[in-house]
Formats: sequence, C-alpha cells, structure tokens
Amino acid sequence: MKITILYIAAIFSFASLKANANQFSDSVIISTSNPGGWMISTNNSVYQLILTKENEVQQAYYGPKAQLAFHQKKISAADEIPVRGAFPTKTPLLEVVFPDNVRDAELTFVNAEVLQVEGRQTLKIIQKDKYYPLEITSFIRVLPEFDILEKWVTVKNTGKKNNIKIENLQSASIHLPPDAYDLTHMAGEWGHEFQLRNTALTEGVKTLQARDFKSFANPNWFMVRPAKENEDISGSAWFGTLQYSGNWRIDFDKAFNGKLQITGGINFWDTDWTLKPGTTFETPRFIIGYTRSGSEGAAQHLTAYIRKTVLPASFRDKPRPVLYNSWYATAFNVNEEQQLALAKIAKETGVELFVIDDGWFKGRNDDHAALGDWTVDRQKFPNGLQPMIKKINDMGMDFGIWVEPEMVNPNSDLYRAHPDWVFHFPNRTRHEGRHQLMLNLAREDVYQYLLRSLSALLQENNIRFIKWDHNRTLSEPGWPDAPASEQREVRIRYITNLYRLIDALRARFPNVLFEDCSSGGGRVDLGMLSRMDQAWASDNTDPVDRIFIQYGYLSAFPANTMVSWITHEDWHSLKPGLAYKFDVAMSGVLGIGYDITKWTDDEKKLAKTKIEQYKEIRDLVQFGTLHRLVSPFKDNKSALQYIAEDRSSAVVFCYNMAEYLNGSTAQAQEANILKLRGLDPGAFYKIQGLNNVVYKGDFLMNIGIAWPVRGAYKSMILQVQKTKQ
Ligand code: GLA
Repeated sequence: MKITILYIAAIFSFASLKANANQFSDSVIISTSNPGGWMISTNNSVYQLILTKENEVQQAYYGPKAQLAFHQKKISAADEIPVRGAFPTKTPLLEVVFPDNVRDAELTFVNAEVLQVEGRQTLKIIQKDKYYPLEITSFIRVLPEFDILEKWVTVKNTGKKNNIKIENLQSASIHLPPDAYDLTHMAGEWGHEFQLRNTALTEGVKTLQARDFKSFANPNWFMVRPAKENEDISGSAWFGTLQYSGNWRIDFDKAFNGKLQITGGINFWDTDWTLKPGTTFETPRFIIGYTRSGSEGAAQHLTAYIRKTVLPASFRDKPRPVLYNSWYATAFNVNEEQQLALAKIAKETGVELFVIDDGWFKGRNDDHAALGDWTVDRQKFPNGLQPMIKKINDMGMDFGIWVEPEMVNPNSDLYRAHPDWVFHFPNRTRHEGRHQLMLNLAREDVYQYLLRSLSALLQENNIRFIKWDHNRTLSEPGWPDAPASEQREVRIRYITNLYRLIDALRARFPNVLFEDCSSGGGRVDLGMLSRMDQAWASDNTDPVDRIFIQYGYLSAFPANTMVSWITHEDWHSLKPGLAYKFDVAMSGVLGIGYDITKWTDDEKKLAKTKIEQYKEIRDLVQFGTLHRLVSPFKDNKSALQYIAEDRSSAVVFCYNMAEYLNGSTAQAQEANILKLRGLDPGAFYKIQGLNNVVYKGDFLMNIGIAWPVRGAYKSMILQVQKTKQ
C-alpha cells in the first residue's frame, strides 16, 4: 500500500478536537474530524491515526504531546498495518498467501469502536482485504499513567472453504518522527545476562531476535532515543517490549529521510500458520511507551507498568519472601538430614522460604538422567518429601521445589516409554544440550502428562513455591506426527501450551509462588512475568558481576522480580566480603544459596542483621520507584535509590568496585558526589547510615553528599527518612 503525504493546508482542526475532547473528558481515545481518525493520549504522549478518503488507516504521529501541533501541519503518514503488497517500502506486519497463490494483500477500513479490555480503554479497528475473505483487527489498549500502549492484532479467515497461509504476522508497527536515533538494547550469554548496549541506527534494518527459545543473546526489550538526547533523567525515549516467550523479533527499519519504523512480534523464521476457514489467529501484545524523562523515565514507566498490571494478581502486592536455595550447597546429592541442617541455620538467620533445587527426583544423581520423571527419589527420601516439608513448616518456613518440566533426559522412564514426545526429525540427530532433549509441548499428550505429574507433586506435598527451569535451547524442531500443513506451527503451539500449562497449575494451586528460570536469566520476558512472580536473573552470583547484570535487568523489569542470592562464588578472585554480597543481593529479592552450615558465628550474626535490615527496607525495594543514580557501566562504582511513592522514605545502595590512583583514570577523576533524586525538595531527610545527619531534600538532590563508601569492593546502605528539621 502506498505511503501518503498529506499536507493539511489549514491548521489542524484543534477546535473540533477540543470539542470532542471535552465531550469525552475522561476519554483517552477520541475520534477526530478533519482529518477523520483517532487521537490516543497518555499523560505525555499522543498517538494519532487518520482515516484517509481512500479508506486507509494510517499512523500519522507517535510522540510527545508538545510536538503534535507542529506535526499536524505536515502529516506524513504510513500504514497502521503495513502488508506485503504493492510497493515493498516498509517492513510488513502481515504477509499472507491466498488460496489462488496471490501473495499481495490490500486492506480497507471496515469499522472502529472504543471498548474496555481488562478495564482499560482500547481502540479496536477492523480492516479487511478488498477481495479475499481476510479480516484484520488491530487493538490499542491505553495505560495513560504509564505512558504505555499495548498493541496487538487478530486475523480471521472469514471464508467458508479455503485456507489462508500466514507467512508472517507481527504484533505492531510504530513510526517515529524523522530524526537521528540511537538504540539501546541488551545482550548477553549464560552468566552474562542483561548487558546494556548502545548503537546508532543508520539506514537499513537492525533486528533483535530469538530463534531458539532463549533470550540470552537479546532479551526482547529496547529503548530508542534521538541521538542528541542522552541525558539519564531528561529527553525523549521510546521504549518497548513484547509479551512473548517463544521466538520473537523486533526490527528497526531506518529510512534515509530519517523516519524510523519499529515492528515487533513472533519470529516467523521457519514458521507459518494455516488459517482455516472461520478461525482467528491472535498475536502477543507489543508494549510501547514514550517518556520525556530519559532512560530513567523509560525504566520507571515500564517497571511500574509490569509491577502494577502485568505480574500475576494473586501475589502482585505481596512482598516476596527471603529464600534459601540448596543448589550451590548440595547440588544433586540431596537428602533429608542435610537439607534440614541447612534449613535450621536458614531459619535462625531469618529466611522465610526453603527451596530444594535439582536432585530430589527419581534417579537424578547428576545431569545425565531422570528429567521427565517427576516422582520423589525414594533412595534419597525413603519416606517421601512430605515428612521433611512438615519439619520445615514446623520451623516456620514455607517449602519450595525445583522442576524443569519442558525437558527430558534420554535416560528416563518417560523417554523410554515415549521417544516420539521430543522435538525431532526423522533421519536427523537428536542433539542433546546438558544431556537433555526438549519435550514437544505442542502435543496434547505431553501437555496432559505434565499437567498430571506436576499436579500430583503439588497435591501430595505442601509445596508453596516452584522454581521452573528451562535449561537448553531448541534444536531440530520437528513434529513428524502432525499433519504436514501444521508442522511449521510447532513453535507457536508449544508456547501456547506452555502458557496454558502454567495457567492451569496456577488456577489449581493459587497459593504457589512461581519463579522463572532458564539457565539463569535466559527467558525473562512479559509472557513469563505475567505468569510467574519472580525470575532468577543469572547463574552468575559473583557480587561484582551481579552489579552489572542487575543494573541491566532493572532497565526493563521490576526489582520485586529480580532474585539475587548470596553464594561463595567469586569469579574474579576479588574476595568480596559477606556484607558486600548481602548489600548487592538486597537490591532485589534476597536469597541465600550456598553451604551455610559452614558459616562461623560471626557470619551467622552478620547474616541475621542483614536479613533484619532487608525486611525493614523490603517494601521500598520491592514496591518503590527506582532511581539508578550511578551506572557501573560508566563508573567504577554504582548506586541505586528506591523511594516510596509518597517520598517519605528511601533507601540508597552504594557499591564501590575497583579503586584507582586518584588522577590515573577518567573514572578516578569524576567528582565523588552522590546526588539523590525524587525527594520532596522542601522537606528534611535524616540519613541513617550517615550518623542520622539531617539534610534538606533539594540539598541532597542538587548539591549532594560526599560519596560515602571507602575502599575497593565495599558498600553501604543509606536509609533515608523524612523528618522534622
Ligand atoms: C540451572 C539453573 C540453576 C540450577 C540448575 C540445576 O542451571 O539456572 O540455578 O537450578 O539448573 O540443575
């Protein structure tokens, strides 16, 4: 479909817009005339759609409210649903093949309405193909207080006889005003998750994607900013993510004229979908936001949106417990006596949830066997798990357990009985990763087996927490038993059933808290975080590395989902102290994960004091607003400040990394001043941790205090409380 440049001679009819706005004063979606269309407002952004005389729905503007008037004089519009068809000038959202092998689509507007979806105003626009029985409905759900829009589409085959083949269907396409843009995204691998990267978007297409069900390489998050605006706390930033855990892609298509198109959705690489007559296909939601408050605003808006609207409602407002996890203490070699010895010390120091990791199920003595057989190993636990759970409950702690439901070891009863239940192609190697294969959860029998065996586990034992792991990437995604026309649907069907399985378990066992894990942070996304309450950010528990990993994580995901343990790990032989490890882990969901039976009395005492302090500041960390004061990516230190919504209290984590000879490096020359943010400028604040000195809010924000930490790999937690002078 062609691109239309509309020159609106007269000033855009603000009068008619205002009239409409007043008419629907609490409405965030208003229909407009001259030009006809819709204006969607959040607190700081506007998204404008126009309906052309040719009945085409076009996106005219998405950005700050302030610039709207300027843009209205010269509207440069692009299709809201760019399709494969006519001139291939844009990245398409829809690519289909009709029964007569026509591969071009041509859309025309049918109707639109504003409705409520999950309690939010949502614009629904139906378009259809001009000739073939294909209907495409786009949705824009508005969350004004977060400056966020959720966009997704459904396509329906309205015919009665023939299939339509979907070769590509993205969730959304967004056009930003012409400018030079920089992209911030994340990169990583196992043990190095969530590393922030910044790159100029030059002409061409930059793609972030997953093709193997893992998002180590690129988590599905991005931020785009005008190249000249790079302040942390001011300037425009568009940010977004995708509510999807399967294969996905996000494309940044930059034209020579400066326009930027961002498209995102399921990755249809080696994937297609047969749309049968009368059926509908729905995409996952693409989340896009705009802020004028820089990268900090982008992170604050997105994380607040996730925390308040995406996380499972049952635990959304409940503090996450302090947990103990046995993995680094006992690995596969678990038994009741040794777990209870760990639990006793965990309880003494203040732990609330005791979790047994891998190794508890039948024949699981190392990682070569047993995945798939989700029954208790009677050699390790002759009386089952329940007697041990009872003792842990009697100590006053909840009990949790590790599972990896989507996987199977070839050396397992399940695989011996059902070798056809894994992804595979005939005549092709079944590649193992960590000695395991991936179950084909697209199959109904696999789904039913997992629902049955996990339900039995949760029914027979008083389990209040599941750590749900996923330890390998996808290979040879074959499903030879499926009809040929459905075989390339397997990845999409897998994710649908994965979500269905978690949803069914949550419905059956509403008191169970779920933790998302994928060899560390290999599958953290809103698809998971709308079903799981928290996530294991990395198998790398070195506290210094964690400062980087966690800083990146917190760009996109809220602190009450970020699980962080204290362990013995020291990846760089820096010998950080126990207090430092606690201070790092306390900026998320605190856990302990190593052999604490070896703790000295002093270490136990320190742990107890730190856990007490964590409980004091937990609400601020888990429900406060985060200001990332000092980035470890820019400095040899880092600071995070969490503040209550009413600005009455805050907590500041200050971490030193390496120290250098003053004057020897650019970092060492930076002013050693710590400035806080978001306080009430006129109010007075007392800082516990700094001799309870009282400062005025605007002093702490604009003048600042001397950086409080001395020495390499030392840290400090400042508790800030509003007070009378
Ligand atoms: C993965 C997880 C670890 C641990 C092991 C158990 O590597 O990321 O935390 O649970 O599996 O095998």
